Amino acid sequence: MSERSTATNSPEILLALYNATRALRLYPLENEAVRRAIGEVEESAARVFDREGGISIWVAGNYLFLNDLQVKLDLSDYAVLSALRESLRAHGIGRIDVQPRITSDEWVAFLSALSADPVPGQPPLEAFRSKLEQAGVRRLQVGPPSPLFEGHENAEAVEAARRTYAYSVKVAKEMMSGLVLGRAIGARRAERAVLRVVDQVLQDRASMLGMLTLRDYDDHSLIHAVNVSILSVALGDHLGFSKGYLFELGFAALFHDIGKVLIPTSVLNKEGWLNEEEWRLVSQHPDFGLLMLFNVEGFEEPPYRAMLAAYEHHMKTDLSGYPRVIRRRRQGLFARIIALTEAYDAAISRYSRQFLPCSPDEAIRQLRETESGAYDRVLTRAFVNMMGIYPVATLVILDTGELGVVVAPSPNPRAIHRPMVRIIADAEGQRLSEGPIRDLTEVDPDTGRPRRSIARSTDPERYGINVSEYVA
Ligand SMILES: [Fe+2]
Ligand SMILES: [Fe+2]
Repeated sequence: MSERSTATNSPEILLALYNATRALRLYPLENEAVRRAIGEVEESAARVFDREGGISIWVAGNYLFLNDLQVKLDLSDYAVLSALRESLRAHGIGRIDVQPRITSDEWVAFLSALSADPVPGQPPLEAFRSKLEQAGVRRLQVGPPSPLFEGHENAEAVEAARRTYAYSVKVAKEMMSGLVLGRAIGARRAERAVLRVVDQVLQDRASMLGMLTLRDYDDHSLIHAVNVSILSVALGDHLGFSKGYLFELGFAALFHDIGKVLIPTSVLNKEGWLNEEEWRLVSQHPDFGLLMLFNVEGFEEPPYRAMLAAYEHHMKTDLSGYPRVIRRRRQGLFARIIALTEAYDAAISRYSRQFLPCSPDEAIRQLRETESGAYDRVLTRAFVNMMGIYPVATLVILDTGELGVVVAPSPNPRAIHRPMVRIIADAEGQRLSEGPIRDLTEVDPDTGRPRRSIARSTDPERYGINVSEYVA
């Protein structure tokens, strides 16, 4: 790592790219200054290829990354590099991958396209790509900025997600303890907490999902409520729900188990099997929840969708769950979503000392393989698709021997088994404190095969690793 990091921090290639685009803006291609600038691009690129085998440049927020390392900005380079970043951004480019053996003509085509202004009224990245295609450029690809990647490089987004999480836990706690004492819940505060969750998920889904692994709170029912709310809103967003609908879903999810506040904690936290009477009590929490939400004051009208979701969330799609139904009905959409997200959360969490938590990928595998009529098939598929086969916070061993933590699903929805992974130990087992983020869809141009694949997932406890440190 160390030799690479010093080498890569030289922004020589970036400066050369900037100089060449500027020269092309001022002079025709035949001009001597333009020729020289393009020559410099080729030479500095060749040096990077020699050292590192390829070039990938990312724009992430206000930063530029060259081969996964943040480019250190000197004051003297600063203006130049921000100009380069801006012109990439103007063309909708968040990522450039260049393969060795790129030809001079390919560089010229790319640099000419970059130095031209984007055509107004056209999606800039598509226009840019078709220019490259027309010019026969094959060894240089451009891609959109990845909000997921940015989210994890952006400490602010993670901080905001953390604050939202903490706030939701606090409000959920107030409301639940208020209800135990027979006080009305403050509808406005609850609404504000849910709105924050929705905004945060819309802004940066990955960092919000990263919060699921936080175990900073010891009250299981609160963590469960907030986690199910986050997961449900994320799934709703993935399905394209409107913001208003997401808000209702988030609210319903946050209070789906509200009826449990009427059940003695001695029963809820009991180790071992419940006796018949205890089970009867627990299985009434959907009915209790419905009634409690109906009595909430401060809403213009009762939160009907949340009431229905609380009532139906254990019903199962084939109606084999509880409360038992007499007439045939269809489990509502919110309840079907919540049933799925809460099963996932329960699987990855150690809510009961009887059961060990599963790794996130194991929880996903269980959901995919559940044949029963418990969960909606289409929603399950959408959920798996959103989380990826290896969800955020899964600890994975790569076929390179490196150890990594999944920090975001792949930006490519067809590559659900190739997420973004932060490398936390190299092939020699050496821990890296600030390891690079690798995109597992990245292909080695020499072999045409992915550079890295997941060999298997593994248990963080075996390595004494707290995955949330790397994710959040
Ligand atoms: Fe639940
Ligand atoms: Fe429940």
